[in-house]
Amino acid sequence: MNIVVGITGGIAAYKAPELVRLLVKAGHEVRCAATEHALQFVTRVTLETVSQHPLYSDLFATGGTEHISVREWADMVVVAPATANCIGKLASGIADDALSTLLVAMPPERILLAPAMNSGMWLNPAVQRNVQTLQGWGVCTVGPAEGELACGTSGPGRMAEPVEIVNAISNGHLPLAAQRWLVTAGPTYEKIDSVRFIGNYSSGKMGFALAQALADAGAEVELVTGPTALSISTNKHINVHRVESAREMHAAATALFPQCRGAILSAAVADYRPAEQADHKLKKQGDEGMTLRLVQNPDILATLGGMKTDSQTLVGFALETDHELENAEKKLAKKNLDYIVLNSLRDEGAGFGVDTNKVTILSRDGSHCESPLMSKKEVARLIVETVAP
Ligand code: PMT
Repeated sequence: MNIVVGITGGIAAYKAPELVRLLVKAGHEVRCAATEHALQFVTRVTLETVSQHPLYSDLFATGGTEHISVREWADMVVVAPATANCIGKLASGIADDALSTLLVAMPPERILLAPAMNSGMWLNPAVQRNVQTLQGWGVCTVGPAEGELACGTSGPGRMAEPVEIVNAISNGHLPLAAQRWLVTAGPTYEKIDSVRFIGNYSSGKMGFALAQALADAGAEVELVTGPTALSISTNKHINVHRVESAREMHAAATALFPQCRGAILSAAVADYRPAEQADHKLKKQGDEGMTLRLVQNPDILATLGGMKTDSQTLVGFALETDHELENAEKKLAKKNLDYIVLNSLRDEGAGFGVDTNKVTILSRDGSHCESPLMSKKEVARLIVETVAP
C-alpha cells in the first residue's frame, strides 16, 4: 500500500521514524507529512531518510495543490502521534497547513489516528466528542494506551507502539485491501432504432454507492455501468466502464470477473432486446400500430454463477413485486449465488431512482438480514460488511 505517515507536534513524534521503518520493512511505500510543531520533535532529514521521499510539510512548496496529488497517491494516512489539536481540526474540517489540508481531502475511512497526549487532555469532553465524531464518519483509531507519560504522570494518553500501529493496519483497518471487486450498476438500453430504446428507471445510485463502499473498505473496484447521469468523484480505486446494452455489460463483466475476488450485480438489466435494431429512424406504421419482436438477452448473473470458483463471492439483487422471499430464494439457488439482496417495489422509499432503499440480504446458508429504510450509502455499507466481512 501507499501510506502517508502524518506527524503532529507531540513528544511521541520521536517514535515516527521507527513506525516508518517498520512500514517500509512490511513492504509499504511510505511518505511523511509533518506539521511545523512536529518538526520541533523530529527532524526533516530523519523522516526523509527513513521514508526515502521528500517530506510534505509546506502547503505552497509546489503551487498549492500538492495535498490533492498526495491524496491521489495515498491508499491511507496514518497520523502518529495525533494531538488533540489535530483531532479537533479534523473533526471541525479545518485545513490550515499541509497535513490538515491532506486529512480534510482524504476519505475518512482511509485515515487511522494514533492519539497521544496528556491524560487530562485525552479525557477532556471536547476531545472525546471529537474522537467519537471522527469514528462515526469512519476514521479508525488505535490507542492510546495507559502508562507513563512524558509529563511525568501516568494514565491514558500514551501513543500505541509503532508495532501495534503496523498490526492495526495489517489486521483489517482496510479489510478489503488488495482485493478486486466487480459491481454492475444502472439500467441497460436496448436499441430499437437510431433514436429509440427500451430501458428502465434505474438511476445507478445503488450500484455507485456499492462501488464507493467497497473502495472505502480498501478494494479496487471495476464498476460496469449502464447509461446514467452519475459520475464518481475522482477515485483511483474505482475503474468505471460505461456500457449501453445488456450484451455490452455481459461482455465487460465476464471479461473482468476472473480477476475479481467477488462481484455484486445491482444493474437492472433488460431481459429482452428488439430482434432487429434499425440504424435509421423508423417511420410511423399507421393506424394498425406496429409489432416489435423481442429476443432474450444473456443473463449476466447466471453466466458469472457458472464461472464462479470456490474463492469468489457472487452477490445478486432481486427486484420483486410479489412472493418476494420465495422468488429471491429461487434466484439465489438457480444462479449459484452466495447472497442475494432483495428489494421490494412494495416498500415505499425502496428501489428505482430514490436515495433510500430497504433490503433483505439472503445468504445461501439460509440466514436473512433485514435492513430498515436507510440511505443507499448506508445500505451499500451494510451489504459490503455482510458479504465481505
Ligand atoms: O439504480 P437505482 O435507481 O439506485 O435502483 C436500484 C435498483 C432498484 C435497480 C437495484 O436495487 C436492484 O434491485 N437491482 C436489480 C434489478 C433487477 O434487474 O432485478 P432482477 O430481479 O430482474 O434481476 C436479478 C439479478 O440478475 C440482478 O442482480 C440483475 O443485475 C441480474 N440480471 C438480470 C437480468 C440479466 N439479463 N442479467 C443479469 O445479470
